[in-house]
Amino acid sequence: MDESRLFIPLNIGNIEIKNRIGMAGVSRFRADDQHVPTDLMKEYYCQRASVPGTLLITEPNLISKRNVGLRNAPGLFTREQTAAWKTIVEVHMRASYIFAQLCVLKHEILGKEATIIRGPGTISLDTDLPTTKAMSIEEIKDTVQDFVRAAKNAAEAGFDGVELLGATGDLIDAFTQEDTNQRNDEYGGSVENRSRFLHEVMKAVAHAIGIKRVGLCLSSGSTSQDIRLKKNAALQFTDVIKRADDLKIAYIHLTEPRIAESNGIRDNEWLDFACTAFRGPILIQGGYNSKLAKNLVDGRHPDKDIVVMLGRYFTSNPDLVFRIQHDLEFTPYSQQDLFATKSFKGYTDYAFSKEYLGSLNILTQLLC
Ligand SMILES: Cc1cc2nc3c(=O)[nH]c(=O)nc-3n(C[C@H](O)[C@H](O)[C@H](O)COP(=O)(O)O)c2cc1C
Repeated sequence: MDESRLFIPLNIGNIEIKNRIGMAGVSRFRADDQHVPTDLMKEYYCQRASVPGTLLITEPNLISKRNVGLRNAPGLFTREQTAAWKTIVEVHMRASYIFAQLCVLKHEILGKEATIIRGPGTISLDTDLPTTKAMSIEEIKDTVQDFVRAAKNAAEAGFDGVELLGATGDLIDAFTQEDTNQRNDEYGGSVENRSRFLHEVMKAVAHAIGIKRVGLCLSSGSTSQDIRLKKNAALQFTDVIKRADDLKIAYIHLTEPRIAESNGIRDNEWLDFACTAFRGPILIQGGYNSKLAKNLVDGRHPDKDIVVMLGRYFTSNPDLVFRIQHDLEFTPYSQQDLFATKSFKGYTDYAFSKEYLGSLNILTQLLC
């Protein structure tokens, strides 16, 4: 049995997780065409909650019918979607913890083909997409309310909290980053103004469901891998993270940029920087395995409350936490099946280890 700090419980908001390995949000496209979670998804999440006390973050949920650009992604904006999530979360509540990731894409599908990209301004970093339409103040305020409604639905469904996705070029990220936000009203033009949209979302969602149920996912910047190289990005993220700290949200969740690695030790300036700006738990993801995860929490940051989140390996190892704890090999994931829309293949058909199954009372498994 492993003695790493990875297996020491940790309080996050209102919950106490029993280990510091979590499942990161990974889009899987197994909801139905109306963005309603399916029985297949129930089986998937249930499998991944198999080690009691584990923290799971869902794939991103769409929060408005005005913003459904991701086919077969789940949503949290209708009663049907909320009810379907409830049947999934009810299973989780027995043993593990789950936050719903909430996301606004910049895509807006009109009819069958036409696509509008909504953003803070007319600039999009993605050159394959049509020109962005600058959002009006009214649209911004409406979007804040979309987050509130989705968060309330998440609470009704029984989620332990929501994670606001502010990473990798989604709408919140686009407002935060100087490259994509060149507004000159109160939502752009200065560090403070670029943080405003996210700050309003955090406050409104906290007001609706409680600050201890709010997490925030950030990436350090779509154009820069090293925040030291970009002074403005460092200033911006300091502002954003300090606001999250002031509000005392449950956690921040960082998607790592490319990082130097030698002998299994990572030199991660982004994490070091965030550790000084945020006093609560920090979730970190990006390319971890057992060895790197242990080095991070036991070696590099023994005095910080860090949870190592894994994405792809959790897709192929439903008992991933058990495997890390018992030094078992990981099953490789199939890149091809990650996005196999609506298919069970590469989704619910990955096996539990024989060691895990041997450790279980088979009846407990069957309850799922
Ligand atoms: C197919 C795929 C889809 C992803 N979708 C999301 C997503 O919707 N939201 C998110 O925050 N991260 C998403 N990610 C990023 C993962 O959460 C994670 O950061 C990334 O896979 C690196 O961690 P890993 O090396 O443990 O997989 C996705 C990654 C992959 C491979």
